[in-house]
Amino acid sequence: MAQEVRGVIAGGKDQQVRVETIVVPDPGPGEAVVQIQACGVCHTDLHYKQGGIGDDFPFLLGHEAAGVVEAVGEGVTDVAPGDFVVLNWRAVCGRCRACLRGRPWYCFDTHNAGQRMTLTDGTELSPALGIGAFAEKTLVAAGQCTKVDPAVSPRVAGLLGCGVMAGIGAAINTGNVGRGDTVAVIGCGGVGDAAVMGSRLAGAARIIAVDIDDRKLETARGMGATHMVNSRETDPVEAVRELTGGFGADVVIEAVGRPETYAQAFYARDLAGTVVLVGVPTPEMKLELPLLDVFGRGGSLKSSWYGDCLPSRDFPMLIDLHLQGRLDLDAFVTETIGLADVEKAFARMHQGDVLRSVVVL
Ligand code: APR
Ligand code: ZN
Ligand code: ZN
Repeated sequence: MAQEVRGVIAGGKDQQVRVETIVVPDPGPGEAVVQIQACGVCHTDLHYKQGGIGDDFPFLLGHEAAGVVEAVGEGVTDVAPGDFVVLNWRAVCGRCRACLRGRPWYCFDTHNAGQRMTLTDGTELSPALGIGAFAEKTLVAAGQCTKVDPAVSPRVAGLLGCGVMAGIGAAINTGNVGRGDTVAVIGCGGVGDAAVMGSRLAGAARIIAVDIDDRKLETARGMGATHMVNSRETDPVEAVRELTGGFGADVVIEAVGRPETYAQAFYARDLAGTVVLVGVPTPEMKLELPLLDVFGRGGSLKSSWYGDCLPSRDFPMLIDLHLQGRLDLDAFVTETIGLADVEKAFARMHQGDVLRSVVVL
């Protein structure tokens, strides 16, 4: 029996979001219905509402979520009703070339639920990133559910579903930050702060936070940054070099997604160092660098999709570290709100007042 629940809908470009009744079908083969307990508000949800990610309105927003599996469809064996899970938007297929050669975090054929959730009049909804979790319940592919220790609070667990995982993974998976490395993180919003925390977890000796906003630098200090650089006042490339014995950092993580900050990252790293781009650029942006510098400085220039995470490997591990007191994920939750407060949360996010507002159900 399909069920009716409440969900947050973006009905058209730049319209205010609203809470509406949505219809969630029973899970078909390979699908699961999850009762959502918490879901963070991410920039990507705002981009959907603004029409920046296609015009497939109406969207069912929300994608950084944790909850309890209510029902599973035919053939689902990895999760069962009652399991506490974190949702991910890259359910790996296990069959594509990337998966078959043992690199499933690059999976080229990630999948979502086959059936669609609808409004009560039958209008099909487009769930944000194939999830749609600003809702009491949502329908996903079973592979989008990763079981973690239920001792963790849902509002913290859900964070791993997107931005925080992207940042931590940019440091520990893509950047391969190791003990004793020097790291610079450019842009200290939620993603950059998570990269700072991931670098600390990995044993970085120096973690230099770079931002144009002193409030953000202060927060980054709390996450583990050892040095702070306001790049509005100081040339960040010079500053990073000075703080690393004149060399530049071993790993520079760009968490803004702009050509000028990418160029800063490129020149702030030591010879043969690594640049990780985790900030997401827009289609019109272009990068210009002397090709001789790209060659001559060596090393690697990488991008990080979703922190190159493998949910089945990374989510349970990070939750365990959090439960042991070794990863303070609570630091990312600025406020908890209700389903009706998402529009207000977008405004606060836009003003830079919050790291994460988390909808709690
Ligand atoms: N130099 C340094 N820092 C900057 C600059 C700049 N030129 N411009 C902006 N910033 C800082 C902001 O002050 C803010 O602290 O970058 C940070 C961006 O943080 P958020 O807006 O909170 O974004 P976040 O959620 O961290 O995501 C960062 O990753 O996932 C992508 O789409 C997302 O591109 C975005 C990036
Ligand atoms: Zn695959
Ligand atoms: Zn997101």
